[in-house]
Amino acid sequence: MAQQIEKVGVLGAGLMGHGIAQVAAQSGYEVVLREVDDATLQKGIGRIEKQLARAVEKGKSSQEDADAVRGRIHGTVDYGELASCDLVIEAITESLPLKLEMWRELDGIVKPEAVFATNTSSLSVIDQAAATGRPERFVGLHYFNPAQVMKLVEVVRCVTTSDEAFETALQFARSEGKLAIPTKDKAGFIVNRLLVPYMLDAIRAFEEGVGSAGEIDEAMKAGAGHPMGPLTLADFVGLDTLGSICDVLFEEFRERRFAQPPTLRKMLSAGWFGRKSGIGFYDYSGETPSENTGI
Ligand code: 3HC
Repeated sequence: MAQQIEKVGVLGAGLMGHGIAQVAAQSGYEVVLREVDDATLQKGIGRIEKQLARAVEKGKSSQEDADAVRGRIHGTVDYGELASCDLVIEAITESLPLKLEMWRELDGIVKPEAVFATNTSSLSVIDQAAATGRPERFVGLHYFNPAQVMKLVEVVRCVTTSDEAFETALQFARSEGKLAIPTKDKAGFIVNRLLVPYMLDAIRAFEEGVGSAGEIDEAMKAGAGHPMGPLTLADFVGLDTLGSICDVLFEEFRERRFAQPPTLRKMLSAGWFGRKSGIGFYDYSGETPSENTGI
């Protein structure tokens, strides 16, 4: 039987965390959104407020509803405010040491019956679960960017997850109107295992001169019906995030399809992380993105 969830803690108000917090608040949950400092927290909350205002402008939400959603989100920089959460979802930097440090601290603060969930895109769930005193109440809840729009949540069961915690996570994702797909704790789960080699292959095709970035992207949109071409998608996900996911997958499977192509490695050294840094396969400094001719 699933546990009752009323209050949700979200760690990290970045690209994924702010969206995860917004979706939970829109689904009626009280949300405590935690960031490391106030400036980063306000940036994340600002993004949520912008989305809510846009929904009101478009007539998709009433001002009253938008205010109620915003009112359910409480921002903090203090772990202590997560003590009474029923479910805590982490969406911090994709670094195992940082995640372990965070869970160890939270484990002593958050009530013992609460379920912990990681939004990791590639790290093993069990490695995080085992660092807590509640490995049976630990799952993966993997959202997709933008979390407000993408329908899927992968619900990951690791070897220690209890039936009750897994059912709680499945029902929670469904209560947010998401399609909850159960999957095993195998690096990359379902989507990234397939999507990451696809984006890497697009980078290899670009390296080999099969087409320009724009040609590769337009071809996949028009020829395969994808909403975004693979290089636009790589910029959208973040080339740094893509780089760390493929490093984890390569480490796990030792297969060439998961290896960073040299172009990606060089772009990361240059600090070209895609849309978030203003430049990647495209340059985002103008009105509309243009191809980065410096690659
Ligand atoms: N936050 C909230 N809402 C957003 C948004 C955002 N960042 N971006 C777009 N939207 C909303 C818009 O407001 C609009 O809402 P409306 O229909 O109510 O008006 C709707 O989404 C459609 O947006 P647009 O009309 O501006 O643009 P598009 O139709 O091109 O859609 C897109 C944008 C939804 C991002 C679409 O291009 C898309 O689906 N792209 C692929 C995204 C994808 O593959 N994501 C997965 C990445 S992999 C991942 O996340 C895993 C991780 O582990 C790496």
